[in-house]
Amino acid sequence: MNDGPAQTSRVEELRARARGKAGPDALRLFEDALALMLSAGIEPASISTLTVDALVGLANGLATARSASTIPSLSMPGRHARLDEYVANAMGQTPGRILDIGCGCPPWPTIETGARFPATEVIGVDFRWPAFLLEDGAGLRAFFGEDRRLQYLFTDAALRVRSQAPDVLERSAVERFERLLRVLEAEGHDEARATIEADGARLTREPMHTYERENVRFVNGAIGSATVPKAAVIRCMNVMPYLGSARQTEALQWMGQNLEQGGLAIVGCNFAASTDQRYRVYRREGDWLAERELCFGVDWLRPVTAITWVALEGDVDPSAVASWTRVVRSDEVFAKRLDARFDALLSEHGLLERSPNGILEPIGSARGPNDLGRTMAAIATELDGEGYVASAASIIEASGTRARRNEIGDLAVATGGSLRLP
Ligand SMILES: C[S@@+](CC[C@H](N)C(=O)[O-])C[C@H]1O[C@@H](n2cnc3c(N)ncnc32)[C@H](O)[C@@H]1O
Repeated sequence: MNDGPAQTSRVEELRARARGKAGPDALRLFEDALALMLSAGIEPASISTLTVDALVGLANGLATARSASTIPSLSMPGRHARLDEYVANAMGQTPGRILDIGCGCPPWPTIETGARFPATEVIGVDFRWPAFLLEDGAGLRAFFGEDRRLQYLFTDAALRVRSQAPDVLERSAVERFERLLRVLEAEGHDEARATIEADGARLTREPMHTYERENVRFVNGAIGSATVPKAAVIRCMNVMPYLGSARQTEALQWMGQNLEQGGLAIVGCNFAASTDQRYRVYRREGDWLAERELCFGVDWLRPVTAITWVALEGDVDPSAVASWTRVVRSDEVFAKRLDARFDALLSEHGLLERSPNGILEPIGSARGPNDLGRTMAAIATELDGEGYVASAASIIEASGTRARRNEIGDLAVATGGSLRLP
């Protein structure tokens, strides 16, 4: 599908689908991400409705959170497992301490990092602990504050077509919470940390304590002011975009100050199972925080879930990575080979396939985020095993910038620049 009018009409179809599902703020985020993909040389026919729905699902969530002045605490099991391997490789020895800044709740990745490095002290830091967490077996997680108001709600089905408007979901979560809270209080569970199950749901008071492990603990505090011991590694994933450009430099400086000499900071965004990943790696060198590399997954070369293409105000990394995608995809021979192999893998994994008119369409019913993440991670591993990441790195090198396939199979582009620590 190379002719201009067909491409234009595909873009219009994608936009129309988004307009039907996204509020005005979310639509702007979607439009920006779509424009970025097109500028990076992604063919409209290779952007499926799955991508539109994933982007719109995220954009709606972000817009709702923004209007309520909250930051989603959302995390996912297995989200940073590959980053743990990056740390294991880059440090060459077991890190004494890892800080997970803005760890979220439930803090699955923090717990998993503790399990991956049992001899390391892992500290999750976040300024927003829920007072209550309501969960059901169907993937609903609703956080409530001390004032008993809903802080944030997430469902596993957020990437699917919502069958209910968010306010209906919210009302139903609040009703269930209030019912369970009455049970909790009526049954005299007045100890600070209590859990009850009823109505197919579980209500936990002070849920952060349930996540502590022998080598994992949590600190309630904000970037810039939390009191934390210095660490060999700082991970700060899916947090910086919420700070806005004005506070990002200060946040980096604070992280630098809390790093031991030679320690690493990994700062970026990703989706389930370390897919859609983009991150910058910094090293503490004397009174400086030196930037080492900008890394991104092979799925940036052909976005599917595409969550981290969404750029909040001040987040320049989506366009930085998209420009490297463009460089790689300008090698037409490589892009053609990659696209053919990507298509074959998407079809083999039962995710997407080309319709007779060349448009990539979802196979079967919609999948939840963790399932999508696992599938995309498997595809990325296969592509890396077949040499696509190494070839893409060579294309970037040939354009005049130092690049490599890093130890976990992501592309890594050398970056410079140092930030003076106060
Ligand atoms: C989207 S979650 C990310 C959770 C986890 N890091 C992950 O990658 O899955 C963002 C978290 O950052 C926290 N956060 C945002 N700004 C913060 C700040 N200034 N200080 C501490 N935590 C912050 C929020 O409360 C939220 O829990």
